[in-house]
This record gives sequence, C-alpha cells and structure tokens, in this order.
Amino acid sequence: MFKLPQLPYLKTELVPLFNEEQMTFHYEKHHKAYIDNLNKFAETDPSLNEKSLEEITLNSTGGVFNNAAQSWNHTFFWFGITPAGKGGQPSPDLMAAITRDFGTMDELKAKFVDGGMKTFGSGWIWLCTDAAGKLSLVSTSNAAVPFTGNGPTPLLVADVWEHAYYVDYRNLRMKYLETFWSQVNWNFVSENFATKKVRNLTTAMK
Ligand SMILES: [Fe+2]
Repeated sequence: MFKLPQLPYLKTELVPLFNEEQMTFHYEKHHKAYIDNLNKFAETDPSLNEKSLEEITLNSTGGVFNNAAQSWNHTFFWFGITPAGKGGQPSPDLMAAITRDFGTMDELKAKFVDGGMKTFGSGWIWLCTDAAGKLSLVSTSNAAVPFTGNGPTPLLVADVWEHAYYVDYRNLRMKYLETFWSQVNWNFVSENFATKKVRNLTTAMK
C-alpha cells in the first residue's frame, strides 16, 4: 500500500501561492485519488506492493502507469515548493549550471513560465538535468514523467493541470506560474542536482 505523503508544511502556509481550499482539493482529493487508484490495482496485482513507486512508474503502462506516475509527480511537486521566504538559494554548483545553460536566473524563470504556458492541455513543466549536469526544460502531457526511456532526471516540476491552480487563479496560468517560481524550494532542487538521480519518493509514501 502507498499512502499520501505528509507535506513538509501546513496547507495554510503556502499563501500567496495556494490558499487552503486549493490545497485541500489538490492534495486531499486529486493526489489522494491517484494513490487510492494505484492501491486498487495492487489488490489485483500484489507484486506492485513489492516495488518502489519509481520502479512501477518506469515499468508500467495504462492505468497503473497513469496512477503511479501521478502519485509520484504530485509528491515531487509538493516537495519542490515552500512557504514564502523559506526557499533558500540554489547551491553554487546549481547556480553555475543555470548561468551556463540559461544565462541568468531571470532567463530560466522566463523559459520555465513560457514552457508551462505552452504545455497544451493537462501536463507538467520540469527543470531537469542529464548525468553530466546539463540542464533542460521538459514539458510532459497528462501523467508522463521525463525519466522514462533514459530521459533526464527531474529537479523541479510545476503542475499545469487546471486542477492545480483553478481554485485560486481561475484561467490565469501565467500568474500561477510566476507565483510558483517565487516559492520554489531551492534546497530540494539543489539536492536533486547534487545526486543527479531520480528522487526516491517511495519512502515518504509507504
Ligand atoms: Fe495535480
């Protein structure tokens, strides 16, 4: 059985990025539903309980993939944001990579927001690294993750499904993405850049 991970902050602490009602719907309804659905698949295929969420995401298709990946994506999303003013700074190594690959932090933000705006329909905009530390932005649709098929490793993600922002922002996806950027947890992003490995989220969800 997988469980909804504990958030590293209270649902009320993310303003102005998200108000409590937005958090309640997204975390307690949408995210929980993906995990509940994955656990239902595990009732008919108990081998899923022996695997990590990362293994299931990498090696499944159809409904199992959709619900495993969405369970993983949302946990990664929650861990990548933080209450206002508590996000810290990118590590020196990460900042050097941002400067090399995007020019400035402002350029990275502009391209991240633009990538989120151009993600058609439901999906995710990711900041990723390859094994050598080269950064890239990747847009995925629906439940898809960047790291299948030897793709790059996620450092940060913004959920651009409408359910992620519609309670607080209605149709203003750009305003959502710009506010998201002001509450990135740079300690989390820097840790992911240091390991260059797909984050183990299974331990937070067992
Ligand atoms: Fe979502």
